[in-house]
Parts: sequence; C-alpha cells; structure tokens
Amino acid sequence: MSQQPEIIRGMQGVVFTISNVSAINGQEGKLVYRGIPIEELAEHSTFEEVSFLLMEGRLPRKEELEAFNRMLKAHRALPGEVVDVLKKLPSNTHPMDALRTGVSALAGFDPDLGDPIEGMALMGKDEEARKAYWEKGKRMGIRMIAAFPTLVGAWEQIRNGKQPVEPRDDLSHAGHFLHSMLGTVPSDTATRVMDVALILHAAHGMNASTFTGIVIASTASDMYSAITGAIGALKGPLHGGANQQVLRQLREIQEMGGVSKIQEWLDNLLSQKGRVMGFGHRVYKAYDPRARILKRWAGELAKEQEKELYEIAVKLEEINIQKLGQKGIFPNVDFYSGLVYGALGIPVDQFTPIFAVARVSGWVADILEYWKDNRLIRPRAYYGDQVWDRPYTPVEERG
Ligand code: ACO
Repeated sequence: MSQQPEIIRGMQGVVFTISNVSAINGQEGKLVYRGIPIEELAEHSTFEEVSFLLMEGRLPRKEELEAFNRMLKAHRALPGEVVDVLKKLPSNTHPMDALRTGVSALAGFDPDLGDPIEGMALMGKDEEARKAYWEKGKRMGIRMIAAFPTLVGAWEQIRNGKQPVEPRDDLSHAGHFLHSMLGTVPSDTATRVMDVALILHAAHGMNASTFTGIVIASTASDMYSAITGAIGALKGPLHGGANQQVLRQLREIQEMGGVSKIQEWLDNLLSQKGRVMGFGHRVYKAYDPRARILKRWAGELAKEQEKELYEIAVKLEEINIQKLGQKGIFPNVDFYSGLVYGALGIPVDQFTPIFAVARVSGWVADILEYWKDNRLIRPRAYYGDQVWDRPYTPVEERG
C-alpha cells in the first residue's frame, strides 16, 4: 500500500518551468512583460509591438516593427473554405466555440503544418532541425495572431446573416478587429481603447490556458493544436469566461433598482456561496494593475453612455473590497473590461473572444519559450482506491 503523497489541488503554487515571457507579483499587484511594467506598455506601446516583445524577448527596432506589422496584415484574410466552415455552424454557436472551430480548420491551410512526426525535431540533437521546427511554430503563431480578429469578426457577421467584412490593410490590429466585428471603421478613441485592452490581456504568467497550450505543445504536437486547446481552456467562466458574466451581474443589479440595491444583491449572492465575477485571482492578492487601467478607460467612456452601469461597478467594488479585501480578493482584469467592450458596442458573448485575440500572442510566446528546452509534461495522480486485483465480472453476472 503506497503512502498518499501531498496532493496540490489545482496545482496551486506549483512551479514546473522557467518563463521570462511575463511575470506577476501577486502581493504587490505588479505585472511585467519581458520585464517592462504593464502600465508603461499600456501607455506607450501597441498590441503589435507587445506581440513582438513577448515572442522575441525585446522591443523591435523601427524597421523590425514595420516588417512585423506588414506580416500581420498579410495574414489577415481567411481562406474561403474556413469561412464556409463557419457558415455551416448553427447560428447560436457561442463565439468561443466558433473561434475554436475556425482555428482548428485554419490549420490545414497553413503551409507549415507538416506530418506530426516532424515535432520530434524538438527532441533530437540536430540543432538546425530543432530550430527549423521552432521557426515553423513561430510562423504559424504569427499567422494565428493575424487571423484571430478576422475569425472572431467573421463569426459575428455570419451569425447575423451577413458576409464577413473584407480586411483593410490601412488599419492597426486593434482597428482591424473592431472593423471586422462591427462592420464600420472605428474612431481613433475606440481603436486606442481596444489596443490598450489587447495589450493588457496579451500575457499573464502561467495561467490555465497558457498551461494547456504548453501541455499540448510539450508532446511535440503543432502550434495549431496547442492554441486550439488553449482556446478551450480560456472559455471557462473561472478563466476568460468571467468577463461576460460581470456585465450580466451589473445589469442584474441595474434591473433590481441600481446602486441602492447593491448591498442586498451582494448579501444574497454571498449567502448562497455565489461569486462576484471579475473579483479574486489565484495569484493576485492585491488590486490587479490591469483592472486599474481599464477602470480609468471605463470611466472615460461612461461619460457618454452606460453611466449607471459604471457607477454600479464602482460602488460594488467599494462594498466588495470592504467585505472581501481582507481575504485578498480585489477586482481582476475582467471587472471593468466588460464595461469598456459594452461601450464600444461589442455584444456580451464576444467579450471572451476578445481575450483570445489578445492572449494568443502570450500563448505563442510561452510555447516557443518552452520549446527551447522541451520536456513532455506528464504528471501523476494518486490512485486512491489502491485496488490491484478486482476480478472481472462477465456482463451476464453483473447485478
Ligand atoms: N466572490 C466571492 N468570493 C470569492 C471570490 C469572488 N469572486 N473569489 C474567491 N472567493 C472566496 C471563495 O468563496 C473562498 O472563500 P472560502 O475560503 O470562505 O470558501 C475563498 O475566496 C478562496 O476561493 P478559491 O476559489 O479557493 O480561490 P482561487 O484561488 O481558486 O480563486 C478564482 C480564483 C477562481 C479566480 C476566484 O477568485 C473566482 O472564482 N473569481 C470569480 C471568477 C473570475 O472573476 N474569474 C476571472 C479570473 S482572472 C482571469 O482569468 C482573467
């Protein structure tokens, strides 16, 4: 009989690799991408530049950034067959499911997707072959970063009975995303807000979807399979799916009567062991720095519309911090992102795909980093029953 080892539920605090892509200091509420504070990047950078930074480990020189931008623009368009796949989906398909299907379908059209055995190059001694596989993965990753906004936007059009919007190459990545999603060329303010939101969501330590992507990639599988799996992990309401639930909760309070009803709503929720969506984090035990930046933008946008929802959010934050702050539960990135996206006119169930449009950069960067020294991820589970000789009962004899 073997002794039960210590079980680390949810792998909380388990460190399995070294990554320099992004890092969180959960006690002090700090987030850096390749060592640069998120506040600096949100203020001065663009999503394109941040994607380069995450993958390459440094900021691009001017001509490198221009070349990277050109590459992204060149891969915006979707193969017609992938659009046809989306058109075959039932119109009530959740946008995250449509994105996952679209990305999976896209794989077959990528010239770099070869035979699965090629992945073994990652494990061999042939440095050149390993580098070549790694470079293939990077090219596939860049193509996915480029195509994600088009895929998400295409599904929005298709489910509304329209044709996907033709990508324009005079728009930034954020501008292209809004154009694909809404069908109109966005204002400079809308483009900047979306750019900031994409920057803020691009990477975040060893979160569940990044880990999922790495687990798949660690089998020497390909970049599309890894990213498709990561999308599945991001969809869950404990991870990327929280943002759409936040707005639902705020609207629930609004329907109950607004700010004056928050306390009653909260007491009721907590008495049933419910959770305030957009609050709490496995790593942050302080205010999420991304939430602070989005709160400012939500406040700016609320001057024009959805003012009441913003006021409800601010008050709910205040009351909730009084109640849960001592447990280290503060707003996370999702608490204000929904208000921002709502103000931009984006449908609620498209909020999580926005997260994916951003996070794909971090996924690709972390997978590439892991592939520099790949090792199959294969943990163990403790066999609680410890029965090794249960007899096989024929079907006729089973009670
Ligand atoms: N509202 C109310 N109580 C909460 C919340 C919340 N949002 N989050 C945690 N708690 C409470 C739990 O009920 C628990 O209380 P107890 O000890 O009295 O039972 C305690 O805090 C610890 O909760 P755990 O679930 O063990 O903490 P964990 O580290 O697993 O939580 C998580 C992280 C899953 C994100 C959690 O805070 C949560 O469910 N939040 C709401 C969903 C959400 O916003 N997810 C987005 C996360 S960020 C992202 O992925 C972008």
